[in-house]
Amino acid sequence: MPLPIESSSMSTPVVLIPGDGIGPEVAEAAQHVIDASGADITWTLRHAGEAALAAGEKQLLPQSTLDLIAEYGVALKGPCTTPIGSGFRSVNVLLRKTLDLYAAARPIRSMPGVKSRYEDVDLVIIRENTEGLYAGIENEIAKGVTTSIKVATESASRRIADYAFRYCRERGRRKVTVFHKANIMKLTDGLFIRCAREIHDASYQDIEYDEMIIDAACMRMVQDPTKFDVILAENLYGDIMSDLCAGLVGGLGVTPGANIGEKGAVFEAVHGSAPDIAGKGVANPLALIMSGVMMLNWLSVRRAEPRFKDCATRIRHAYDRALADGVTTRDLGGSLGTMDFARALVERL
Ligand code: NAI
Repeated sequence: MPLPIESSSMSTPVVLIPGDGIGPEVAEAAQHVIDASGADITWTLRHAGEAALAAGEKQLLPQSTLDLIAEYGVALKGPCTTPIGSGFRSVNVLLRKTLDLYAAARPIRSMPGVKSRYEDVDLVIIRENTEGLYAGIENEIAKGVTTSIKVATESASRRIADYAFRYCRERGRRKVTVFHKANIMKLTDGLFIRCAREIHDASYQDIEYDEMIIDAACMRMVQDPTKFDVILAENLYGDIMSDLCAGLVGGLGVTPGANIGEKGAVFEAVHGSAPDIAGKGVANPLALIMSGVMMLNWLSVRRAEPRFKDCATRIRHAYDRALADGVTTRDLGGSLGTMDFARALVERL
């Protein structure tokens, strides 16, 4: 699969990381739709993941990729493969930690024309992105005995809580629910909810607040996801809950995401590199296109460039119309290939 061509006009620079598996396919489609919306972006291609090694880089996450994201402050990223069990550690964990992209925001919404178990789901998962078991600090302390260290710090817990409440207020949302397991992990999850409570009580009393033990929360979520608004969770719970919620609104093809830090942001879909369908041209690019819409909205606010908001709105209307017309990829019951779907959106812009 050829990589997307770098464009060269003088405009807002964005790093494009195709990634592995279906990554290059969905990245090409997303770039095509974003460019066609009139968003004035100069894409610079950088590699990460197995694709970096294949391109002759020595590291899975080359320093040149990190440096350019730090310089531009924004990237659109395809998924990167992480092997199960043995092998290298996660490129995603490293990227988020190195650039201190501490907050993942993952909107989960029912989409017009997408068949799913529920209608009217509209929630957002705010996931702490740098700590917890997901950080992967593991040891084999003796033969046949392994440990995994769960880290929770007061500073990171307060920072993500503040982000979640601010996100809620800025978007006119109503309520933040913390998912936790503080009945068992009394110190780490105990600290996480104590910080959330304190931040709420000190600065966000206009926002409703509650807490739910993660196992019961899973049951309530599958029973009725429409009851939830903004969910705040530590890293691993947020990761698992994202895929669970994706399944409630039509799957991984329709769930976008953003990794946000103080100095920049990397936008990527919730899904992975989908090796089972990679290279076949059938992957649904919509989740990455929706991540691109989040990126345009973010650019519009952070760079004070309202033109990006118009482009984001045009793309959103285009995919709403396409889905309502029954124009979809295979995962959503349609028959279009990845680029055919992108072209169908461009026709509706
Ligand atoms: P996955 O999300 O790649 O795939 C799960 C299932 O959903 C597969 O059946 C796949 O075909 C389907 N699927 C996913 N995205 C799709 C799309 N856009 N269109 C149509 N179908 C889609 O999860 P899996 O298989 O657990 O992970 C594969 C690799 O991706 C692993 O190495 C994992 O570590 C990595 N991964 C990377 C992420 C990232 O870079 N942000 C996130 C999640 C997983």
